[in-house]
Amino acid sequence: MAKDFEAMEDSNRSANPNIHEVSDPARRTWVQGGLGALVGTVLAPWLGACATGPGRGPLLGFKGIATSTADAVMVPEGYVAEVLAPWGEAVGVAGAMPAWREDAGNTAAEQALQMGMHHDGIHFYALDGSGSRGLLAMNHEYVDDGLLHADGLKTWSAEKVRKAQAAHGVSVIEVELKQGRWQMVRPSRYARRFTAFTPFAVQGPAAGHALMKTAADPDGRTVLGTLNNCASGMTPWGTYLSGEENWAFYFDGGDAPDADQKRWGLRKSGFYRWGEHDERFDARRHPNEFHRFGWVVEIDPMDPSSTPIKRTALGRAAHEGAWVAVTKDGRAVVYSGEDARFEYIYKFVSRDRIAPGGAKANRELLDHGTLYVARFDADGSGRWLPLVHGQGPLTGANGFADQGEVLIKSRQASDRLGATKMDRPEWLAIDPERREIYCTLTNNSARGAKDMPGVDAANPRANNVMGQIIRWVEDGDFDGVSMRWNHLVLAGDPANARPQAQGNIKGDIFACPDGLMLDARGVLWIQTDAHSSQMNKGELERIGNNQMLACDRSNGEIRRFLTGPVNCEITGAAMAPDGCSMFINVQHPGESPSDRSDPADPNKYSRWPFGGRPRSATVVIRRRDGGPIGS
Ligand code: FEO
Ligand code: CA
Ligand code: CA
Ligand code: CA
Repeated sequence: MAKDFEAMEDSNRSANPNIHEVSDPARRTWVQGGLGALVGTVLAPWLGACATGPGRGPLLGFKGIATSTADAVMVPEGYVAEVLAPWGEAVGVAGAMPAWREDAGNTAAEQALQMGMHHDGIHFYALDGSGSRGLLAMNHEYVDDGLLHADGLKTWSAEKVRKAQAAHGVSVIEVELKQGRWQMVRPSRYARRFTAFTPFAVQGPAAGHALMKTAADPDGRTVLGTLNNCASGMTPWGTYLSGEENWAFYFDGGDAPDADQKRWGLRKSGFYRWGEHDERFDARRHPNEFHRFGWVVEIDPMDPSSTPIKRTALGRAAHEGAWVAVTKDGRAVVYSGEDARFEYIYKFVSRDRIAPGGAKANRELLDHGTLYVARFDADGSGRWLPLVHGQGPLTGANGFADQGEVLIKSRQASDRLGATKMDRPEWLAIDPERREIYCTLTNNSARGAKDMPGVDAANPRANNVMGQIIRWVEDGDFDGVSMRWNHLVLAGDPANARPQAQGNIKGDIFACPDGLMLDARGVLWIQTDAHSSQMNKGELERIGNNQMLACDRSNGEIRRFLTGPVNCEITGAAMAPDGCSMFINVQHPGESPSDRSDPADPNKYSRWPFGGRPRSATVVIRRRDGGPIGS
């Protein structure tokens, strides 16, 4: 149940640069020359580094695999998948590398030095020109207290809350390809954990706002921790963006949450029971602490001494993640959606151009600009509606005293503007060449239900259990205020007679698209997060375990590339710069379909990856011949 809080909210291109390459920190100087100048710079390693070149064959050169219910990661013939970084491995801080304890006996202090639980968004930051040494920055979305503690929730203590907080957040680890195998480099000067108690600076229009001030932080400019970090984006200036997604469910609201708190889904008691031992998660006692989560956070993985930052100009939301496009004149456009039923898709357009000089030169880039929310109209056009204080209904009379309050209450502001209520926006992917933006809308079984919004053109199925992928092109540049949109695909089996589950997939079937990644060859990778609650038994059996598929957008074919172990989701995808190693995350293998895992029977559903306690883990995929992934 913890996963995404279902019950609660309820043309083949040979080689074009995408954000993964253009943001290779080893080549940060590109920005000065603009995108055109960049192309030549980044192509060289891509074309030359793999044992087998990309060739001129079809975009999808692998043999698709069958669905699976095996407790294993399955990949096509000629590929290998190896576990690289599971929950509980020491990240590699020098002199502080506590060993994993299979009995869940690691302390909170140890967990704060180990890989967190439930890996999600991930990116690769090259440390050398060959791309065989780099950093992986990744999110740890949430915890399963049944697996995290030896006796689960049987007893509850401040130490357990602290351990759960330590298992959240973000990890930065160093990895290296040696003799054909990726391994963690430990110790590493870059190794770092950000947890639910790491200090974050607050920047942008809501920094220092009255609604951000607490007893412990009267300035409203320093927040302890980041929470429920789901998807991630990589910026062209070399930093990592992480979305705080279902943060509202960590707070205790008591019996009488106010209208604004209710709009964010504050419940009587937090799902994770942190408020019982850490009073800042009791929203009755510290109502403003509730405003200090729901932001996109920015981290510089290359500078281990850097302070992470909450970027309030991007708006407060149940942020899945954040993805950056660049306008022709070099400004950043950050797209994000909030994964909750009937919530919104946003974009932020920076006022200033991206400066050469990496993270330090762009320390304030995401603090100044304009935030918009999307409206998808029935005729296939759309509008970006500005969330600017004083414009339209966003006035003091309507509860928005200033721009800070508009951003803290982005949802309420978007309600006022009449933005389109979407079917749970998850990941986005941006094609800088075609100028297309894709967004997974994972499902929304409440669409069309009694007293709920009905279908619309962008969200066309009532009781939508399968999800869809929407795409659009902005009119003009990425900062355009209007767009044209359509659907890439409606997920679900075309042969299914149930209208809410019948899709139009050409190729291998899947349900509930979530992770998305566009690689440098032009393959759109789709990852799934389908739960038993969404499908009937026959549909579940047909679709099997969660998976990863590749889409050739030239002909719409979708082909299954990977299937995961039992009750996991597949999420997060990053390529090494040469395109010959792919890093993905297997999240919550063995998760109980009902609630938390039973600590007395941790292996009820899965023994992945090592035959014992189920552990979320980063998996690296290579071709046996060393060639480009997917070709
Ligand atoms: Fe954390 Fe929306 O997936
Ligand atoms: Ca998840
Ligand atoms: Ca997700
Ligand atoms: Ca999901």
